[in-house]
Amino acid sequence: MTNQMNRVHNFSAGPAALPLEVLLQVKEDLPNYHGEGVTVMEVSHRGPLFANVFEQAQADLRELMGISDDYEVLFLQGGAQTQFALIPMNLGIDGKTAGYVDTGHWSKLAIKEAEKVGSTRVLASSQDTNYTYVPAFDTWGSTEDLSYLHITPNETIHGVEYFNFPQGLSKDVPLIGDMSSTILSRPMDVNNFGLIYAGAQKNIGPAGVTLVIIRKDLLARSADKLPNMLSYKSHAAKGSMYNTPPTFAIYLSGLVFKWLKKQGGLDAMAAINKAKADKLYACIDESQFFNNPVEKEFRSLMNVPFTLADKSQEARFLSEAAAQGLSGLKGHKAVGGMRASIYNAVAPESVDALVAFMKEFEKNL
Ligand SMILES: Cc1ncc(COP(=O)(O)O)c(C=O)c1O
Repeated sequence: MTNQMNRVHNFSAGPAALPLEVLLQVKEDLPNYHGEGVTVMEVSHRGPLFANVFEQAQADLRELMGISDDYEVLFLQGGAQTQFALIPMNLGIDGKTAGYVDTGHWSKLAIKEAEKVGSTRVLASSQDTNYTYVPAFDTWGSTEDLSYLHITPNETIHGVEYFNFPQGLSKDVPLIGDMSSTILSRPMDVNNFGLIYAGAQKNIGPAGVTLVIIRKDLLARSADKLPNMLSYKSHAAKGSMYNTPPTFAIYLSGLVFKWLKKQGGLDAMAAINKAKADKLYACIDESQFFNNPVEKEFRSLMNVPFTLADKSQEARFLSEAAAQGLSGLKGHKAVGGMRASIYNAVAPESVDALVAFMKEFEKNL
């Protein structure tokens, strides 16, 4: 256990660790929020109490990410995977093809869903190595005729991250990023994107709210015949209140945004996250026993998968780790082995504890 209130070192890929300070604030806000005699989850989403929470969360997120007025910030439901379908439904253009880049499990699923809706083309894929790199932009071919271009800036399972994004795309070919596992981990220029989306349950807040940041001019692409709940235009027109939004998840996400501001914003988080990831990758690279297959320049700062040279040691690794309060380390079945997710709320001390454990484990083989 960590010495912070008997909480484990939580390396879960998602839903994932939340800052302790935020959890304690939630505890304080229950069952009487700011002397109002109710909690945030018990009042109308259209009333002044929640309006205030909502507006503050939105303003803080805009400040943290530097989101200009050219963009709508929507708090929706349905998770990232609902966006896999809504993106082609809303942003597809009749007679045009949507472009996708396949860098792993989540891009592949996004492609499969888009194929059900309209014409898609896979511009590049790193499947040849079971996803250990991002294909070079100059191999993607022409993007001019596309309705949009979809990428997965961080592949949560394979631990592959983009540190540059394609530049110079036409405004008519918006870049779309599934930022579920990288959002808020470091500064990123929102202006590179036509649409960014993310399930909350890694770096934003609890599961239940899904963030969609969309350039306003793209809302015109949502056809009126789309059911309102599936239309970005309808959600934007109603300020994310077309139906009842996930009020408690939005409130809690707002506390996370405040916490991030207090840490010094995304520049500060980037430095902390880089230092955490560097330590863990260094431990893996120095070891004869642990291995991470991802090309160095694409190694994720948030998700660090690693295998053990002797697979038969996996169960022992996990049980001894658990005994030391190191939790959530089992890798995804698609790649096997282990995975340490080191999102914003995972403290540097937790990474230190993991590194110390791994070194000891190898020594005692
Ligand atoms: C990159 C990425 N996209 C999509 C998803 C699916 O998200 P959801 O469960 O919110 O649909 C995940 C979940 O782990 C993810 O990591």
